[in-house]
Amino acid sequence: DSIAEGDKPLPIPPILEDENPDPDKAEFTLVAQKGSMEFLEGKVTDTFGYNGDYLGPVIRVKKGDDVSVKVRNELGEATTIHWHGLEVDGEDDGGPHSGIQPDTTWKPEFTIEQNAATLWYHPHLLHKTGEHVYKGLAGLFLIDDQESEKLDLPDEYGLNDIPLIVQDKQLDENGQFAYDLSMHDVMMGLQGDTIMVNGAINPYVEVPKGKVRFRLLNGSNARIYQFALSNGQEFYQIGTDGGLLEEPVKMDSLVLSSAERAELIIDFSEYEKGESVELTDQGMPFMKFVVSGEEKGPKEIPSQLVDIPEVDESIASRTREFVMSGMGRNVTINGKQMDMDRIDEQLKLHDTEIWEISNEGMGMMGNNMGMAHPFHGHGTQFLILDRDGNPPPANERGWKDTILVEPGEKVRAIATFDHKGLFMYHCHILEHEDAGMMGQFNVE
Ligand code: C2O
Ligand code: CU
Repeated sequence: DSIAEGDKPLPIPPILEDENPDPDKAEFTLVAQKGSMEFLEGKVTDTFGYNGDYLGPVIRVKKGDDVSVKVRNELGEATTIHWHGLEVDGEDDGGPHSGIQPDTTWKPEFTIEQNAATLWYHPHLLHKTGEHVYKGLAGLFLIDDQESEKLDLPDEYGLNDIPLIVQDKQLDENGQFAYDLSMHDVMMGLQGDTIMVNGAINPYVEVPKGKVRFRLLNGSNARIYQFALSNGQEFYQIGTDGGLLEEPVKMDSLVLSSAERAELIIDFSEYEKGESVELTDQGMPFMKFVVSGEEKGPKEIPSQLVDIPEVDESIASRTREFVMSGMGRNVTINGKQMDMDRIDEQLKLHDTEIWEISNEGMGMMGNNMGMAHPFHGHGTQFLILDRDGNPPPANERGWKDTILVEPGEKVRAIATFDHKGLFMYHCHILEHEDAGMMGQFNVE
């Protein structure tokens, strides 16, 4: 049998209870709290979590729902909670201005207006995002809609619809998450030597003999993964950050930068009971799928998923430029570092704009030295128009809120801004964000 003694089963984050019996309303309670975990045998790690010791429950809502959340802060220090990828007004977005003081409760309310998607939530306090996420504050936020429910996709949560929150960590000799950053960590982002999935090191998960959907979140502070299966088997990507793709895209590896999500389908129908395969990053295995033999789920993957609108660039009111630059500690966007009192960009409500996002690497455009930065904009979802003038790869032809830009590269993306208020754009390498690689835009 391929499950060995001592192997850890993959923890599956629970779906958070909706406290409102009205089917069109949803009410949730999240408590940010301190906790502890035994990631390494015999060592107790101090952690943060929502409603538990580590990570948070899954918030699951339907398009059209009126949602209210009570977020209670029991961390003993200020925090915020940001709904990454959710299209809501600035005051409910949970950015750095929405500080939740210790022992107080923040109560955002919003209506779900967007399509089925795998989003997530995490803290966003100025200069503290990296540390808070690193200690365990993150959770998934899933939206369903009529289209997604009509599709014959694997949908038994935890059985053949499995969330995978992938994070790399560094545990010190006492088993603690040491978050004292070296100059190198600030420059490159904090990278750990241990990959955890849903808070477990090298776990296994039993999967049925059939098609299984995985909702993958790169919840790492900085690491860019290149995922593949250990036997080279191909899989299908069916969703991006902000929703399902038009059609499944066959791939043999997937690059995912910090905060990006992908929905995948892996077909285990040819496996024997007890057979296993590993999920790898750059060829290094970090978790295992063990086939249970039980047959479950759809026989075929739908060949058509959802409609992604044809982009008409001519409806854009303007093109706005964002130049990311990383030179030592001096990480900037458009040459500036975050200032809570300065609004960097003014937008008109309901306008469609093209955002031209470039990475000038080590400070000279056209010089491809330096590092890739994942650019994230709040309050909307983007469609990528082109990368260096070329059409995006098939698995990026869907809704995106986080876009990886390689050194020397220029990406054009289009979005409509239908929510008012103050929002952030930033590099999602959290050490870069905390070092000021962020700006603010106001929509009114
Ligand atoms: Cu995932 Cu501004 O954040
Ligand atoms: Cu960056």
